[in-house]
Amino acid sequence: RLVFRAYATASRLTSPTSQDVAHFAGFLPESSIITSLEGSKFSKKAESADLEQYNADWMGKYMGKSRVVLRPKTTEDVSKIMKHCWERRIGVVPQGGNTGLVGGGVPVNDEVVLNLSAMNSVRSFDPVSGILVADAGCVLEVLSQEIAPHGYIMPVDLGAKGSCHIGGNVATNAGGLRLLRYGSLHGTVLGLEVVLPDGTIIDQLSTLRKDNTGYDLKQLFIGAEGTLGVITGVSILTPPMPQSTNNIVLALNSFESVLPIFKKTRTQLSEILSAFEYFDRNAYNLVVKHKLGKSLAEDEIGDASAFVLIETSGGNKEHDEAKLQDFLEEVMSDESLVKTGVLAQATEQFQQLWSLRECIPEAVSKEGKAYKYDISVPITTFEEVVHKTREQLKSKNLYKIPGGVKEVVGYGHIGDGNLHLNVVAEKYSPEVEGALEPFIYELVASHRGSISAEHGIGLMKAHALQYSKSKESIALMKRIKHLFDERGIMNPGKVLE
Ligand code: FAD
Ligand code: MLT
Ligand code: ZN
Repeated sequence: RLVFRAYATASRLTSPTSQDVAHFAGFLPESSIITSLEGSKFSKKAESADLEQYNADWMGKYMGKSRVVLRPKTTEDVSKIMKHCWERRIGVVPQGGNTGLVGGGVPVNDEVVLNLSAMNSVRSFDPVSGILVADAGCVLEVLSQEIAPHGYIMPVDLGAKGSCHIGGNVATNAGGLRLLRYGSLHGTVLGLEVVLPDGTIIDQLSTLRKDNTGYDLKQLFIGAEGTLGVITGVSILTPPMPQSTNNIVLALNSFESVLPIFKKTRTQLSEILSAFEYFDRNAYNLVVKHKLGKSLAEDEIGDASAFVLIETSGGNKEHDEAKLQDFLEEVMSDESLVKTGVLAQATEQFQQLWSLRECIPEAVSKEGKAYKYDISVPITTFEEVVHKTREQLKSKNLYKIPGGVKEVVGYGHIGDGNLHLNVVAEKYSPEVEGALEPFIYELVASHRGSISAEHGIGLMKAHALQYSKSKESIALMKRIKHLFDERGIMNPGKVLE
């Protein structure tokens, strides 16, 4: 149903032809064009398999039909592509590392895919201020490696760091594992270079910390999911690398323990607290089952039904370790809260503990097809929301039956009030989707929550925006979209129907 509606939007646009490809070949090298269009005079005509990686999303849930993928190397070339597509009314899908989880980075029909991966240079880095200016197509992890020798880290970190682009992170306003400490990209991004749908280049690549010169236009593109323009460059403030980092995983008797521990963590670890992550037993079991994380001592965790990972980052190793040790001793002494706890003793163990949390998305994908609901709800309701979803699936007789739902898991960023509710099924099916939607959106709305805490709206939730935004807000969003893109060529079908 959703895909059909989005197809209708995209079909009001023009399909690219071999003449359009010939136009692009006038300024792009042959290696920057991947096409299977008949009549395109290329030495190597792409097969549909070559195009599949650009048409299929990370979850294998959405599949476009694009026959033209462009991988420009410069902002000027992005501008020429957009100008041509604007004149010809051809739909364009900006694409980064294609790790998005809401179907936003792949076409719904046969739009041109504008993949940013060939724009991957660091433009400048100031080792005094920590301000980094980079092409949008730089991979997040590569940027981390570039700035590490100067003593800096990226303010955003997520499980997809090895593939996602900084441009994609900005376009989705990705939250991730460090938001609790460093805040959102709305705060750390200092400037952007953007190509508008008609090809106009907006150079706002400021490296200034303070700039109150009227409307802060860059904020509109942060989280716009490629519906207002193509981000080609990002200026971002990177924080100094903490001198000491540590983590612990606690296995809890029940979800009830999470809140008192979170409260204690905030007061006791205060300024050194850098992450507070949650995962339930089902999520933990999947990571262990798929050998993506090392299990904790089985006899000690027993029937623990909830886990938290707490990370500290600070400036004084001895002081930070002592603080964490005291904290651990205190919470462990309360047997009503904690079954067991593990404090990382070395870098390798630090990574191992993180894997238990960070590898959940991968474990879920290995287990089956995931319906991902990334929601903001009161922390107190995290377990209840998972439970109610399971009950809903049971009542529809879709839980643990052949071809149905295998597992319902909950994990997320407690510190940000962000629950990841994942329903893992043997296959994507209208029956399961029908049981989950609008059920989950209504549940979220009943808590005045958000149907998208950090992954965005994309194609998946464009029809459901009204559960989290008033009709006046949606009308204003549509006016903004029209102002930038009156021809509707930018990422059609995404965010707004
Ligand atoms: P893509 O997937 O390519 O695109 C995503 C959206 O941005 C699309 O709408 C696309 O059109 C648009 N876009 C991409 N590049 C540009 C550009 N240059 N200009 C304009 N628009 C553009 N998200 C979180 O918030 N927190 C997490 O902790 C997190 N963890 C993840 C872990 C895993 C294992 C995976 C697979 C995903 C995770 N995500 C997470 C989802 C997240 O949205 C992305 O990983 C990331 O931010 C998207 O970057 P990308 O380069 O892959 O963008
Ligand atoms: C995470 O926090 O692990 C990510 O947002 C990815 C996901 O929700 O699966
Ligand atoms: Zn997340």
